[in-house]
Amino acid sequence: MTSSAEWWQRGVIYQIYPRSFQDSDGDGIGDLQGTIARLDYLAWLGVDAIWLSPVYPSPMADFGYDISDYTSIDPVFGTLSDFDRLVAEAHRRGLNVIMDLVPNHTSDRHPWFLESRTARGSAKRDWYVWRDPGPEGGPPNNWLSEFGGSAWEHDPASGQYYYHAFLKEQPDLNWRNPEVHAAMRQVLGFWFARGVDGFRIDVVHQLVEDATFRDNPPNPDFQPGEPPSHALLRVHTIDQPEVHDIIAEWRRVADRFGGRVLIGEIHLPINRLVAYYGVELGGIHLPFNFNLIGTRWSAETLRNLVSSYEAALPPGAWPNWVLGSHDFPRIASRIGNRAARLAAVLLLTLRGTPTMYYGDELGMSDVAIPPQSVRDPFERNVPGQGMGRDPARTPMPWSDETSGGFTKGMPWLPLGDYRHCNVKLQAQDPDSILWLYRRLIALRRTEPALSLGSYEPLGLDPECLAYARRYDGRRIAVVLNFSEEPRRVALPDDARHGHVLLSSREGSPPDSGRIVTVQPAEAQVLALE
Ligand code: NOJ
Ligand code: MG
Repeated sequence: MTSSAEWWQRGVIYQIYPRSFQDSDGDGIGDLQGTIARLDYLAWLGVDAIWLSPVYPSPMADFGYDISDYTSIDPVFGTLSDFDRLVAEAHRRGLNVIMDLVPNHTSDRHPWFLESRTARGSAKRDWYVWRDPGPEGGPPNNWLSEFGGSAWEHDPASGQYYYHAFLKEQPDLNWRNPEVHAAMRQVLGFWFARGVDGFRIDVVHQLVEDATFRDNPPNPDFQPGEPPSHALLRVHTIDQPEVHDIIAEWRRVADRFGGRVLIGEIHLPINRLVAYYGVELGGIHLPFNFNLIGTRWSAETLRNLVSSYEAALPPGAWPNWVLGSHDFPRIASRIGNRAARLAAVLLLTLRGTPTMYYGDELGMSDVAIPPQSVRDPFERNVPGQGMGRDPARTPMPWSDETSGGFTKGMPWLPLGDYRHCNVKLQAQDPDSILWLYRRLIALRRTEPALSLGSYEPLGLDPECLAYARRYDGRRIAVVLNFSEEPRRVALPDDARHGHVLLSSREGSPPDSGRIVTVQPAEAQVLALE
């Protein structure tokens, strides 16, 4: 990879959940004006792009992932001109803007679905997945909704069922219909023409279902506590081969505009995930790699994970790493505050585009949501089993003012301990995790080895994950100590000296040398000389 790298290869992506970032009008819900007001913070942090979870008009059954108009902005977030201003203000600060596209399903209030539902013979009937009842009556087959229950909803007026991989308020579009393709291509063009730099595309692997609607087989490994939809193996509802032609079509639209990125939300094992780069890399630029989220937090499992991911990448495919999102418990709650600092170093020094989730730079934790405050439809459908995503979606704490400075009104979700964890406090503390993130991002910028360099595993110490990044004669080593003991680590034989560029620990920097001491839960980034 040379200096001709694209911005989305060099850069760091920051996910904003707009409802929870900054409210400007006191309704307790974050909005575009609020986000604009915080762009200076993001520029200070040093990220290169923001990805906004959906801001389109939506009945909010799934908080924007149920879209009722793909080419406008929901009034709760602002107006189209607010959005244009956001893009202009972001670009002025060197920040690119990535929108969230949800092509698998619409809202049940989208005019397309309203028309589809009017009659069996309606012009848009075939834009959605309608089926007659099964032979004994009831749903056409055994497919399950990701959010609990059958994936089929009965429509009494026509006697048919429609398919919804998620809520019944989120009917699936029929991607076997060419008119649907044309409509979505127009949506892409609409936003690209307005200056949007890319899309994160929702559940790409779920776009197409089996043409003959075969039942999914039972999952022999299903464990209680897993999402109920995992009771079946989704062989006929996800990762169907036809999906790749749809992606290639979107890619052609993106290429026509140039400099745009397509990111895919794809939850699949690595060997199937990498197929989404497409034939001759003509697919998704960055099929999201969520593997840091589910993995056990140890040097050995991470070492194996990175190796198998690196090995599976098709030639020339650009890797990426994701540490958190609005769908999973936060990293600090998954592995603890101390390890979260290690995770920051890992995310920002592995080879591949890092995507960080708002608030993780503060070490934000999941917030316990009392039953009366639950908003997530997943939690409401499948209560009390830990499915809820609200705990990771709570408002960003900016200061120790009321509601953390997020809103002057009643926040839509409760905040965590904003008096002790907030931007203002941490910005004044050079030992804070916020400063660690800021230093790491700055280091990535000054050291192209960290953004563009090759990845070489270093077998220095079994308790440490260690690797080198090499670019243009510069070699940088990263050593992460996962053990509870300090480790004395000898750097590779051909290195005379390791100069510490960064440590994840608070306090004075450790000594540089040929042999370095790495403290428990410490990560060091060293220039090898
Ligand atoms: C994935 C999104 O990230 C999630 O929040 C949403 O509920 C589903 N897709 C359905 O759109
Ligand atoms: Mg608001």
